Amino acid sequence: MAVAWILSLCLFSCSQQKPLSDAPDSQFFEQQLQATADKAVAYLGEISIDSTAIPRSLQKDGSIHGTGSRAWTSGFYPGQLWQLYEYSHKQELKEAVSQWTAFIEKEKYDTHTHDLGFKVYCSFGQGYRLTQNEAYKEVILQTSQTLIKRYDEKIGCIRSWDFNADVWQFPVIIDNMMNLEMLFAATRLSGDSTYYKIAHQHALTTLKNHIREDHSTFHVIDYDTLSGEVRLRQTHQGFSDASSWARGQAWNLYGFSMAYRETGDKRFLEQAKGIAQFFYTHPRMPEDLIPYWDFDAPHIPNEPRDASAAAIATCGLLMLCEWVPESQNQYLAWADKTLKVLSSEAYQATSAPFLLKHSVGSVPDSFEVDVPIVYADYYYVEALMKRLSIAKLTQK
Ligand code: GLY
Repeated sequence: MAVAWILSLCLFSCSQQKPLSDAPDSQFFEQQLQATADKAVAYLGEISIDSTAIPRSLQKDGSIHGTGSRAWTSGFYPGQLWQLYEYSHKQELKEAVSQWTAFIEKEKYDTHTHDLGFKVYCSFGQGYRLTQNEAYKEVILQTSQTLIKRYDEKIGCIRSWDFNADVWQFPVIIDNMMNLEMLFAATRLSGDSTYYKIAHQHALTTLKNHIREDHSTFHVIDYDTLSGEVRLRQTHQGFSDASSWARGQAWNLYGFSMAYRETGDKRFLEQAKGIAQFFYTHPRMPEDLIPYWDFDAPHIPNEPRDASAAAIATCGLLMLCEWVPESQNQYLAWADKTLKVLSSEAYQATSAPFLLKHSVGSVPDSFEVDVPIVYADYYYVEALMKRLSIAKLTQK
């Protein structure tokens, strides 16, 4: 994989394609990250560091919906601060984020959730990458041991949810692809290939059973625990079972790009290319590339947009463009357009500690509809960081 990575980087850097004409240059991404880091520092004074109030979303009355570490979203605020510390080296960010991160440690033993990658890898994982703190590494490894307890060999997947047991036997959601990143890291950190094998098999099973002909994904696949066969193909947060829930498609793009980066398995690369095409050329994708919450929502264009799906998909695209030289300019053009729109007044939030407006948690539950949500912020910062490093490497 290392050789493939170096070759792809060379292809990427040496590509003879024309530079993008109207693309923002690296200065734009620098300025945006600087402004975001300054904003995050200013926001530190506006919220108290509290283990029971980790920022999640902004409520319609203007108050912050904060949670304990158990919520699936708890890793994103610390993860966002770690990335902004990486960019700005501001000590205030490091001091605050060390405290927010520590609140999440107890999740390392929770066997009742698949969201451990979101919680622990976005917080401790980012922290370990930047500090090499051995204690953080131990948390990542313990959490990975906990997560693989949810793996079923016959099915070839890690179980997602435990609720709704009267309907589902063994539900697996597309979002779960994101938790695999921690398992790949755990093999690198420990030398134990168990984590890698489970993550690789989970991605293969997801490719086989979640993915449709056109590379879009179902949200939930329910498996029969005795036979290991698919029982149901459904949605939980989308418009309908057959529809294309926008954030699910974004998890699909990010998840398979990351799985290719970690394994070199070309099947994942082909899937990531296919879903990128589906997402960005969809007839109901608006001109500004911020999707409606579901590509098949019934009242388009009078439906909420989902900035979180746009930010997550941009990160996937920015990984993918390293390996697809023939589409690199197209991918960068889509990413740049999205980042320019998300960086514009129409999408920039002004309420502490949030960065972006207009995300959607769950329309079917009437929950967090068209509000700032912390995971949009996390992936927006990640996308800016990824885009800046590409600009520095290639002058594109
Ligand atoms: N993983 C839950 C969501 O995307 O809403």
